[in-house]
Parts: sequence; C-alpha cells; structure tokens
Amino acid sequence: MTGDPIRRALDDVWYCVGESRSVRPGGMRSVSLGEEAVVVGREESGALFALRDRCPHRGMALSAGRIVDGNLVCPFHGWQFRPDGACAAIPALARRDDANFASVRLARFAVAEKSGLIWVHTSANPAHASPEAAPPIPEVEFDYCGQLVEILEVEASFDLVALSFVDPAHVAYVHDSWWWRPSKTMKEKVKHFAPSPFGFTMTSHTAKTASLAYRLLGSIPEVEIEFRLPGVRLERITAGEKRLANYTFAAPLANGRTALINAMYWNIPALNLLKPVARPLMRQFLGQDRDVLQIAQRGLDRKPAMVLMGESDVQSQWYFSLKREFLRAREAAAPFVNPLEPRELRWRS
Ligand code: FES
Ligand SMILES: [Fe+2]
Repeated sequence: MTGDPIRRALDDVWYCVGESRSVRPGGMRSVSLGEEAVVVGREESGALFALRDRCPHRGMALSAGRIVDGNLVCPFHGWQFRPDGACAAIPALARRDDANFASVRLARFAVAEKSGLIWVHTSANPAHASPEAAPPIPEVEFDYCGQLVEILEVEASFDLVALSFVDPAHVAYVHDSWWWRPSKTMKEKVKHFAPSPFGFTMTSHTAKTASLAYRLLGSIPEVEIEFRLPGVRLERITAGEKRLANYTFAAPLANGRTALINAMYWNIPALNLLKPVARPLMRQFLGQDRDVLQIAQRGLDRKPAMVLMGESDVQSQWYFSLKREFLRAREAAAPFVNPLEPRELRWRS
C-alpha cells in the first residue's frame, strides 16, 4: 500500500460528530471533519443545522459567537447568518450604504440525528447524502432502554483506526483483559461473510466463548457483525428477546487525528444498573486500541507500507477494495457496485 488517495478518509460520506445531547436548543458546537471546521447548532425548535465554521468576513469561528433570535452572530463584527447559511444582517452598514450582502452565504452541510448521535455529511452536494449514494447512517433496530457512548481521540490515521474494526488478529494481543478474554489459548475460528450495502457482514453465529460480557445476557447469544464504509462497525447481539447493539465509528479530525466513537444500546433494564461499571470497562477497551494505534502510526509515518497476510487480513483487503470502488463510482458519477463475494474465512485468535 502506498500513499495514494485511497489512504485519505473519504469525503462525501456521513460521519458521526458526537452525541445529540452535546448540542442543546439554542446552542452550538464546533466540530472538525478532517480539515473542515463545521459549526453544528440547534434551533429552539430542536432542528439541527451545520455550516462552515468560518465567517466569510475575516475568517472568524462562528461557533465562538452566539445564537440571537435564531441567527448566528459572529463575535468579531456582528455579521448575522440564518441557519440556512444566508447572511441576514451586517450591523456596521450605514443607512445609505448599498453594499449588497444577499450573495454572502456560508457553505451548508447535511446534518442528521439517529439513535442519540449527530451525523454530518461532508459533501456540499445534497444528492450525495441519500441512502443510495452514501452508506446509510446506522440506526438501532430495536427499542432500547439504555445507551452508553464513549468518544476518544486517536493520533492515528482514519484508515488505521477503521482497519482495527475488521482486524481479528489484534484481539488476543491488545484486548486481553480478564473480563473480555478469560481464556488465553488461541483457537481456530471459522466465520462466514457476505457482502452487504457498502460493506460486508459476518453472518450470525452462536458465540462459543462465553466471555463475561456475553454471559451477562443470560443465554448463549447470536452475534452478527457488519462493517460498512467509511468506518462503521455494527455488532448486533441477540439472546431471545434480549438485544444489545455495540456500534463503533471512526471519524476524521484535523491534523491526521481520528475520533473513535463507541455507542452501546440495550433493551435489558437490568443493564442500566451496570452502567457505572460498564463505562470504565468500555473506556479501558477503547484505550487499548488507542494506545496501540498511536504507536503503530509512528511506524507508518516513517514508512507507510503495510504487509497484509493470510485470511486474518482478508477483511483489511476488503476495506481497501470497498474504498477503491467508492472512489471509482464517485469519479465516474456511477452507482457503487459492491466488489465482494460471499466467503468463509479462518484464523486463529
Ligand atoms: S469576521 Fe465575522 S463579522 Fe467580521
Ligand atoms: Fe480493538
């Protein structure tokens, strides 16, 4: 693998930028999407908006300003912008000044809210945000009664973080906590994969290793893991009526950093009591990924090549195939055609 466009985070897709509750009505927050700064705000009605966080006048961050009467007010000279990005007023203009500010406009981004999270689409082309054109925003498919979200910043590239979602070989070495992997022996695993929209799914199997986390469900669960572009891992766990969803997302930040977002949802009221215990465990688990990814990134900074070997790295190959196809489809203004075939993979972990 070399340093070509395939190594950059995709633009033209949805990225998770945080929890819904991080933007209150009448409030706003600056988020980075790669090198783009975006101000995400919420009108009093509850509707979200997302605009380029840069005042066209002298570049000021609008997120440092305030929302007054539904308009964004720049803290530098008070230019006002409506939530649709149109300039509404320039207070310094004298009555006789005929400067026409009707053409002044902030770039606007598609923004959506699903299952307690906010998503921003990086393209200025709204047609590219539709579920046919871009990988759809993940949603929880059951009525959940509890939710736990953790967000970490990782000093590593988007690819390196996304690859960790489809990398079975790191688990035995990085996530060897007693509560996740009680057995230290490596066993051969056989898993079945099938293409799914903008990605692939490890089809439902019965979990064999009864880790403590799984045993909390009371019976042996069925597990299905879906990966989809740009960096979305959806683990769905079902045990009878009990459901647990563990969703993990990568989102590009400025200066080659990446957000690692983990959102867990369940419909089991008893699990709500375990939240104070579960949160530090989730933090520890994600921190294990962050620590190893940051060190590996320093190695890749010196030489960006990766040698992908054997069936445990096939999903990593698939990641790059999917990404390449996405770039091709955009370039050709053609539909995305999933390049993958159903396949069985074996590895030891
Ligand atoms: S920089 Fe925003 S009003 Fe001048
Ligand atoms: Fe991991």
